Amino acid sequence: MTGRARRDYRRGVVDIEQINPRNEAALKAWWDVGHAATADRPGKPWPLWEQSRVALTAPNPERDVALFGAIEGRRMVGAGMVLLPTRDNAHLAGAEVYVDPDRRREGIGSALLAEAEVLALGHGRTTLTGEAYVPPGGTAAAEPFALGRGFAVATRESIKELTTSDYVERRDALAAGLAGAGQGYSLVTFDTVCPDEYVESFGRLLGMLVSEIPLGDLDLEASEWSVERVRAAEQRQVATGRHVHTALAIAPDGTVAGVSDVRVDDTDHTHALVGITIVDPAHRGHRLGLALKVATHDLVLATYPDLRTVETSNAEVNTWMNAVNEALGYRTTETLLELQKRL
Ligand SMILES: CC(C)(COP(=O)(O)OP(=O)(O)OC[C@H]1O[C@@H](n2cnc3c(N)ncnc32)[C@H](O)[C@@H]1OP(=O)(O)O)[C@@H](O)C(=O)NCCC(=O)NCCS
Repeated sequence: MTGRARRDYRRGVVDIEQINPRNEAALKAWWDVGHAATADRPGKPWPLWEQSRVALTAPNPERDVALFGAIEGRRMVGAGMVLLPTRDNAHLAGAEVYVDPDRRREGIGSALLAEAEVLALGHGRTTLTGEAYVPPGGTAAAEPFALGRGFAVATRESIKELTTSDYVERRDALAAGLAGAGQGYSLVTFDTVCPDEYVESFGRLLGMLVSEIPLGDLDLEASEWSVERVRAAEQRQVATGRHVHTALAIAPDGTVAGVSDVRVDDTDHTHALVGITIVDPAHRGHRLGLALKVATHDLVLATYPDLRTVETSNAEVNTWMNAVNEALGYRTTETLLELQKRL
């Protein structure tokens, strides 16, 4: 670790230090702070140590990561991270800051955020994004903290959770309701690696995500997904033990009309996460969204007998996706405020 800043806070001397993710002891201390700082949230708000240890050290040409900690004497009391996209959206940096629950309101979070801004500016970034999770209809420290530090809410998302028993209760009625829908379309499912015949068309659909998903005021640019880029992303998932259970809807002309996925990590078969869902606007109105979701949820239930919960998030204004998720049995657990600040 190398000292970067030294300031006197109310209790003692707190240094903001860079963390080398390959120093496992330092990474574990950093992870412990994030774990403690998120322990009051519902669901699984913080990755398992085994997941973070692998994900934060795995090479990824799509983004750089800078980690830093707030250190007082021999103790880490705050943790920060800046994510720097490298392939596109090079004007953006994503910041996360976490403070030990016993050490709040001492200025440590502000010091970590100031460090994140210095790092982002140093990499030529002009927009800093962040996330604040609050109870539905309520608030949490992160909201006044971020608004007071120059962030604005760019969009609001609902975080939703499905218990497998709720899904099982609804599943057959949903499948019956799909009878006769999607005439001429077929479904193809796979674990992480897309069949060769669909990969190019799948990449084209991925390129539509930014323009088709409601993003509010978020300052995001569209991405191009070449076959090479899709294949490299798949291999990173394979290398970190992540299974992306994917369903594709194939149109009568053989092109990919829609996609949805559910991700399960090898370190935890009790919990799954919905990744992306999109139906090409040219193919909407055939109930493909619901059909894709039923296919992926059936697949993970059949694969992981210990599965208990599936998590998803979607924009509050996305009425179509909200209706599909409600039909599946998802319930809102938290609200996510997507924050943004122009530097
Ligand atoms: C949000 C968080 C990082 C703030 O850390 P912190 O060290 O307590 O923040 P600071 O002491 O620098 O607070 C600076 C100002 O933010 C505001 N603020 C912080 N927490 C607040 C709270 N619970 N209620 C109201 N205002 C709050 C205040 O204006 C505060 O100044 P003040 O103490 O002089 O009144 C911390 O609560 C945390 O770790 N939360 C969980 C993780 C998280 O949500 N991180 C994402 C943040 S974008």
